[in-house]
Amino acid sequence: MSDPIWAYVQGGAGDESTVRENIASFRHWRLRPRPLTGIDAVDLRTQLLGQTVASPVYICPMAYQGLLHPDAEAATARAAASTGALALYSTLSTLSLEDIAAAAPACRRWFQLYLQPEFSESQRLVQRAERAGYSALVLTVDAPVLGPRDRQTHDGVAIRSPVPIGNGPDVVPPARAPEFTDGRYRFPSDANVTWDVLERLRRTTALPIVVKGVLTVEDGLRAVELGARAVILSNHGGRQLDGAVTGLDALPDVVRAVGSRAEVYVDGGVRRGRDVLVALALGAKGVGLGRPVLWALAAGGEAGVRRLVQLLGTELAVSMMLAGRRDLREIDPSLVVRRAG
Ligand code: FNR
Ligand code: LAC
Repeated sequence: MSDPIWAYVQGGAGDESTVRENIASFRHWRLRPRPLTGIDAVDLRTQLLGQTVASPVYICPMAYQGLLHPDAEAATARAAASTGALALYSTLSTLSLEDIAAAAPACRRWFQLYLQPEFSESQRLVQRAERAGYSALVLTVDAPVLGPRDRQTHDGVAIRSPVPIGNGPDVVPPARAPEFTDGRYRFPSDANVTWDVLERLRRTTALPIVVKGVLTVEDGLRAVELGARAVILSNHGGRQLDGAVTGLDALPDVVRAVGSRAEVYVDGGVRRGRDVLVALALGAKGVGLGRPVLWALAAGGEAGVRRLVQLLGTELAVSMMLAGRRDLREIDPSLVVRRAG
């Protein structure tokens, strides 16, 4: 991977304190294993929004996968299809959403929407996703503008823009920075969106709506009251608000507040099967994998991503065996204890 692409993938916002905290927050929890449970097989299968998947671990939406491998999103989609994993695809994918679907028709896929300056353009994207067999709409709410990506700036912003966006020339990424005029920092007017947009999207599509980028109980409740079927607790891999709490930190309270009415997923810093186990124990129904998928894609394309998903699955299964849990229903908060200090 070239230095600028590494900076884009690995980097986060500001001092990257949240990037580090995402990893650290999993280390705050210890597992309480139960031996001698006679387990001879572990079952990772589950349902996410009623859709059967091989594992609770899904592939996060990540933009511009063509920067990492010529097969781009087709590789992650084929790897997901062959492992039975769910994959989420960004509005800003290198390939069009139709080409991703055609590359791996069997891939269970959800479409991640970045709201476009014109709502009609967002609607067109959603309708295309519906036609192409995406089975949920994931609205990312934590990026009305991009966070300050200092590492990318320091490394010379040498990804020569514009990076192509497969969904068409009219599709745009989140705005970069505010303009300072008349004593105020002014953001593009289309960044100025409120929660009513959920209602507008519900009128646009019959797909279940998932809200990605929730970090508080207040917003979890809000999203669910407005009809979201799931929320993803995420700080966007530490790429948006440096200093934000982690999804894992928010998980127990949000599950308590909305877990009986909606599914709660978490992403950020998941690197090992044991991380997945901690998240499941704290009530997550799905657990998202971000940067490791891009590393695997760069290293080995479709085969690399498949290997990653298999490794994570095996790690999770072995961790569950050692913890004395044979399927996801047996995983509950009694499995974890918060480390003192
Ligand atoms: C992202 N993420 C992201 N999220 C989203 O909703 N739409 C997007 O287009 C992108 N693009 C994107 C690009 C790159 C290079 C990265 C690393 C991340 C955020 C992603 O979905 C997820 O929230 C985090 O990556 C999870 O954290 P980890 O696993 O990378 O630590
Ligand atoms: C990112 C945007 C594109 O995190 O989601 O780079």
